[in-house]
Amino acid sequence: MEREGVLERMHSSRRSTVPTDDGDDDDESKTKKNVPFSTRASNFITRIGILWPCLTLTFLVVLFTSTAVIYHRGPVCVSTSLDPHSRVNYFGFDGLESDFGFLGVPWCRSKHGKTVEWTSKDLLRALEEFVPIYETRPIKNNLYGMGFDHSFGLWFIARWLKPDLMIESGAFKGHSTWVLRQAMPETRIISLTPRHPEKYLIKGPAYVDENCTYFAGKDFLDFGSVNWRSVMKKHEITDLGRVLVFFDDHQNELKRLKQALKAGFKHVIFEDNYDTGTGDHYSLRQICDQFYIRGGGHSCFVDSDEARIRARRKNFWDKAVGINELCGPGEAWWGVRGHARDNFNHSSKAISYKEHFENSRFVESILDIYWELPPAAGPSLTHQTRYDPARATSPIVEDGHYGLFQRLGLAGLDKSVFNGYTQMVYLQISKPEP
Ligand SMILES: C[S@@+](CC[C@H](N)C(=O)[O-])C[C@H]1O[C@@H](n2cnc3c(N)ncnc32)[C@H](O)[C@@H]1O
Repeated sequence: MEREGVLERMHSSRRSTVPTDDGDDDDESKTKKNVPFSTRASNFITRIGILWPCLTLTFLVVLFTSTAVIYHRGPVCVSTSLDPHSRVNYFGFDGLESDFGFLGVPWCRSKHGKTVEWTSKDLLRALEEFVPIYETRPIKNNLYGMGFDHSFGLWFIARWLKPDLMIESGAFKGHSTWVLRQAMPETRIISLTPRHPEKYLIKGPAYVDENCTYFAGKDFLDFGSVNWRSVMKKHEITDLGRVLVFFDDHQNELKRLKQALKAGFKHVIFEDNYDTGTGDHYSLRQICDQFYIRGGGHSCFVDSDEARIRARRKNFWDKAVGINELCGPGEAWWGVRGHARDNFNHSSKAISYKEHFENSRFVESILDIYWELPPAAGPSLTHQTRYDPARATSPIVEDGHYGLFQRLGLAGLDKSVFNGYTQMVYLQISKPEP
């Protein structure tokens, strides 16, 4: 209701500005064609003599009200009307439409085309519930960690799946541990991270969970080196399908996927599902970016449409990449300039297209579900300037729906929290079929 109300208000405010001028012109031309302008003007002034104070007052009220509305809705209105170089003007949408997915959104194919149970309505309802929870987070400024979009995604998925155990790899100061805890207050967490989050408490806010087993500091173990059979036994987990594994450790995701599959886990989330040409590790998104998949594959020809569009979009979105950054020697566009990066880009291996293609075929053979979290809201609302919407799915709250954005409580958040979206992905996996 509120959403429709706001849209209707927006439409009617446009109707009342544009047609008013046209309407006056029409009336003038129809009724007073042959009367000289000076006569018409003096007649008009005589006629409205006593109306002057009323008209002036009405004018001032209208001016004051519209200024207040524009000021109140500043973020949306100002960017469209005042900045001649704004993204909105440039790409030709006025806050009601957008260019999400314009440059293709590669989407990994699952074995049987299965998809998630939740709908966009579930996401909307959950957003409203999550905002007040997010406002109580202990680490307000989580630079280098998750922002709002992915915190919401992790919380939503964990709460939907209701696992018996949650494993996270890469905790940093503990924000993601806190998010998991909000989703499942009683469930055990296992956290693998080289530096114990308690170490960060010395300098500022951090989160250490009481119901969490930490493989950290001197006890740190890499996910791939853990004896999961024995750890599961210790935690009395008999059904690995009831465990959620969350990776935010910037490792090659193909490597992590194989390790998770080998251990028998089924539900996996990757926080940083980087787009082709970006990021410090080989991601699912990159692996599935293939010519045979809708929205996949790239052209390295300097005069291609893709090259031209990308060059323009770089002016507007920090994470948009031009064709030069996308393509390496020999027109290698896959991964990052033909490389599969790993471990925060401390290692980077050139791979052939054949290898890259085979990787995607392997991923397809083990995928039951691939689902990318959409951004929480469109950039005209959040004012994020990093990810390029042209490579993302449509947001949960679409551009132009300011009333909804506000009603969900999103307008009250600092805009910096919307700058970390990197296509977080939820996967369901199982062994390849014979
Ligand atoms: C981006 S941060 C994680 C942010 C955190 N999830 C949050 O929401 O704030 C990446 C973390 O991965 C840790 N890390 C590095 N190598 C790792 C490994 N092999 N296994 C697990 N964590 C690792 C880093 O020390 C760092 O704390």
